[in-house]
Amino acid sequence: MLKDDVLKLISREKSYISGETISHKLGVSRAAVNTAVKTLREEGYGIDSSTKKGYLLISSPDILSKGSVSVYLPDNRSGDLLVFDSVDSTNNVLKDLASKGAVSGTVVIADQQTGGKGRRGRSFASPSGAGIYLSYLFKPDSGFDKISDLTSWTAVAVSDAISSAYGLDSQIKWVNDLLMNRKKICGILTEVTVEGESGFIDTCIIGIGVNVNEDNFPPEISEIATSISMENGGKKFVRAELAAEIIRSMDKLAANWPEDPYYIERYRELNITTGSKITAFPQMTENGQGRTGKAIAINDDFSLKVEFDDGSTENLRSGEVSVRGLYGYT
Ligand code: BTN
Repeated sequence: MLKDDVLKLISREKSYISGETISHKLGVSRAAVNTAVKTLREEGYGIDSSTKKGYLLISSPDILSKGSVSVYLPDNRSGDLLVFDSVDSTNNVLKDLASKGAVSGTVVIADQQTGGKGRRGRSFASPSGAGIYLSYLFKPDSGFDKISDLTSWTAVAVSDAISSAYGLDSQIKWVNDLLMNRKKICGILTEVTVEGESGFIDTCIIGIGVNVNEDNFPPEISEIATSISMENGGKKFVRAELAAEIIRSMDKLAANWPEDPYYIERYRELNITTGSKITAFPQMTENGQGRTGKAIAINDDFSLKVEFDDGSTENLRSGEVSVRGLYGYT
């Protein structure tokens, strides 16, 4: 769409860009440029104009659209970007596209999910105008045994994206929850299909949900969940900036996969699980409780080394842990 291309040119320019330059670069008339700018202003973009100098982008509204996200992406990235107002689950939409031949790097984003999925059959609250619900298609050409590396690399990639977009730090709770001030701001759900004969991963749908601008959560999850806005004095953030940084970070991950020591090193720096008392699920004791122990280390394959209270030591490759001091667990 012309307005998306105009937005891209205006937003990439640090100072004013003339209407003539825009019309020349895009091969359209000055009148068409004026109409596109008018439409962008109606959508909420603050665009200053001066007869002599041209146009300058002053502010962007918090809308998620193909245009608003693409502004921050390189023009030549491979993989389509689809942005919807509302879907049941971006993972489901992408799964369908993958079955019809979508290429690695294809991304689906929605402003709202009516059936957002969390891990272990839970739902993921996905209200409109607040979060980022993004699914990334990756065809990694690896055996299923590498899946835990992949979900952990993703946690690092999203944490890095939050730093690049907003200049903010986040931490990782094993295996891939992202936290701010010890509460969850992001969950990741990776759904995989494996080729039966080879045991190789066929498609990986990596679903990322970030709480960005929510200003409250229902009482049943308010001890666990928070948003980037709530942890930063109620400041509102432009979601398109972070959505684009997540895509850039995931493209980098895909390009570096499967060998790059950066991810395990960074994961260890960001991790706040080790050194704490934990309860592991779904490992159960005889009386049906989770097993308790102490998280000792993150191994090179991203498994969690745990010393259980019965004296045994195990490396957890999957499952979940409750960590003392996080999410209201005391
Ligand atoms: C969790 O923490 O339990 C995982 C939450 C994953 C949520 C994301 S939002 C985008 C994608 N679509 C879904 O339905 N779920 C994932």
